[in-house]
Amino acid sequence: MGVAPRRIGRIARGPRGGHHPFMPDVAPPIPPKPASRAGKVSLWRHLALFREDILASQPARLYRAWMAEFRTPFFHSFLCNDPALVALILHGRPGDFPKSAMVRQGLLPLLGRSVMVTNGALWERQRRILDPAFAGGRVAETFPAMLAAGQAAAARLAPGTQDIQPFCGELALDVVMRTTFSLPVDDEAAAVILRRFRDFIATRPIMSLASLLPLPGWLPRPRNRRALAAARDVRAQITALVQARRAAIAAGTAPDDMATAILTMCDPVTGETLGDEEMVDQVATFVLAGHETTAASLAWTLYLLATHPEVQERAAAEARAFAADPGYARMIALQFLRDVYRESLRLYPPVPMIVRETAQEEHFRGRRVPRGAQVTISPWHLQRHERLWDRPDTFDPDRWKDPATVHCAHAAYVPFSAGPRVCIGAGVARIEGPLLLALLLARWEFTPDGPPPVPMAHLTLRGRDGIRLRLTPRG
Ligand code: HEM
Repeated sequence: MGVAPRRIGRIARGPRGGHHPFMPDVAPPIPPKPASRAGKVSLWRHLALFREDILASQPARLYRAWMAEFRTPFFHSFLCNDPALVALILHGRPGDFPKSAMVRQGLLPLLGRSVMVTNGALWERQRRILDPAFAGGRVAETFPAMLAAGQAAAARLAPGTQDIQPFCGELALDVVMRTTFSLPVDDEAAAVILRRFRDFIATRPIMSLASLLPLPGWLPRPRNRRALAAARDVRAQITALVQARRAAIAAGTAPDDMATAILTMCDPVTGETLGDEEMVDQVATFVLAGHETTAASLAWTLYLLATHPEVQERAAAEARAFAADPGYARMIALQFLRDVYRESLRLYPPVPMIVRETAQEEHFRGRRVPRGAQVTISPWHLQRHERLWDRPDTFDPDRWKDPATVHCAHAAYVPFSAGPRVCIGAGVARIEGPLLLALLLARWEFTPDGPPPVPMAHLTLRGRDGIRLRLTPRG
C-alpha cells in the first residue's frame, strides 16, 4: 500500500529557561549525541561502522529525512521517520510487519521462543497469558518490592566518583528478581544471572555480521561459543528457579509474586498454562528486557540531572518530600520527576531502534519495499527529528507541560514502541523509573565527572566508556 506523504505540525515550545527561579543565566549544555557518519562510505566501511556502533554509522540526514533506504548485499532496509508510516507499521497493520529474523536469530540462545521474538498465533497466545501479570493492579502489588530495592540501593551508594552504569544495572536486576521471584539481587542465583548475562551482552548478539547474513532460518548459523555458554548458564539458573517455584505452588507455599502469577495464569481462549521451557523463555526475557532497559534509562537520567543542576534541585525537592513517606498512592506527587523521566526517554531511548520485516511487498512514500525487507523505526532519530521537535537536542522536562507536545508526541515518541506489540513492561517502567530516581535523589547529589559520555547502541543505549558521576550525600 502507498502511504501519502504527511507532515505533522511543529511541536510548540514549552516554558523556556529563565522563567524558573532555579534557572541560571548560562544556558545548560546540549546533551551528548554520537558523531554522525560523514558522507558516503564503502559497503565494508559501512558494515564495520555498523558493527562498531549502529548510531554512529548513520548519516546526519536521518535527523531530517522522512524515510531512508539502505541497500547492501546482506540486507535491504528502510528507516521510517514519517509519522504516518510509523503509525501504519505499529498500529495499522502490525501483523504485516513481524519481528525481524535478525533480532530473533541474535537472541535465540538466550530467549528461545519468548514473547519478545515470536510472531503470529504463538505470540498472541503468549501475550494473552502474560498481559494480566502486568496489569495495573499487579503493578501496585509489586510496588513494595520496587521500593525495597530502591531504598537498599540508595543506602548502598558511597560518596565519590563512579561509572553509574553497573550500579544502575544491579539495581534494575534487583527489581526484576524481587518482583518476579521475591529474591534480592545479592542472592547467589541473581548474582550468576547478572554476571553471565553481562557476558552474553558483551558478545554483541545482534550486531554480529552472522546475524545479518541472508541465510534461511533453518540453516545453523556460526555462533560465538562464549555467547552460547553465557546464555546456557543464565537459562540454567532461571530453570532451577522456575522448577523450585512449581514445587512451591504445588505445596501451597509460593509467595504472591510475578512468577507465581505467570505460572498459574491460563490462556482465556484455550485454557492452557505456560510449560516449563516456555516459562524459562519468558523469565529470561523479563530479565533481559526489564533490566537492561531500565538500567540504561536510570543512568542517562542521572547524567542529565547531573549536567542540569537547576533541574536536579527541583527534582530533589520533590523526591525528598516523597521519600519521607513513600507509597504507591503518593507516586502521583512525583509530577516533575515523571516529566524528567519522559524527557530522558526521549533523548536517550534505551531501545534506540525497533526492527521489523515486511511479510509482503509494500509501497512506502512512492518507493517499492520488497517482501522480507527490514523496516526500522528508530526512536533515537524520531525523538530528535528536527522537523518534528522544537529544540530537538535540548533537555527540557518542562516541554511536557505543554499540551501541544503531548499531542504531537503521539506520532513521534515511541520509547516503549506502540500498538499491540507495545512493551509489556511499560506500565511497570513508568512507575519504577521515577520511583527509583526519587529514592536516589532524596539522599544523593549527582555531578558530572570527566568528559561527557558517548551514547552507543549496545543492545540497549549505553555510554561507550561509562557514565561517570560524582556522588555527594545530601544534607
Ligand atoms: C525503561 C524501560 C523499558 C523500555 C524503554 C522498554 C522498551 C521496549 C521496546 C521499545 C519494546 C519493543 C521492542 C520491539 O518491538 O522490537 C519492548 C518490548 C518488550 N518489553 Fe520493554 N522496555 C522497558 C522495560 C521493560 C520491563 C520492565 C519489562 C518486563 C519486566 C519489559 C518487557 C518487554 C517485553 C516482554 C517486550 C516484548 C513485547 C512483545 O513483543 O509483545 N520491558 N520494550
